[in-house]
Amino acid sequence: MMYSEKVMDHFSNPRNVGELADANAVGEVGNVVCGDIMKIYLKINNGIIEDVRFKTFGCGAAIATSSMATELIKGQSIQSALKLTNKAVIEALDGLPPVKVHCSVLAEQAVKAALSDYYTRQGIDPVPIVGELKSDIEEHHCEGGLQL
Ligand code: FES
Repeated sequence: MMYSEKVMDHFSNPRNVGELADANAVGEVGNVVCGDIMKIYLKINNGIIEDVRFKTFGCGAAIATSSMATELIKGQSIQSALKLTNKAVIEALDGLPPVKVHCSVLAEQAVKAALSDYYTRQGIDPVPIVGELKSDIEEHHCEGGLQL
């Protein structure tokens, strides 16, 4: 399996790892097939994602995609974070092997879960804004045994 230099870089040296004590939005998603879990913490101020951290218990591609996802939304508006797709994460990483595409879906969903939490905490129904979350991501085959 071939990984791009960017994937290897974000796997070996992930950005924004950890927790945010003053986060005002937290999202956690998991893939029931491989059992990988991703948690994203956001600090949102005036509609801008001022800070972001993540913790991923998963394969190397899950770590690389969550690292890249946090880089793509850091300093951005909620509106642009809502538009983040797993395809954009894959492009920013110069591609992923097909069996690892589902890992990028986990990253997209973790960002959306955190944004949903942000609205929920304010008493706003997130579904019309963020959309339905795929709570358990099982439609993408997860080759859990194939790790970096
Ligand atoms: Fe499950 Fe990558 S997220 S193998």
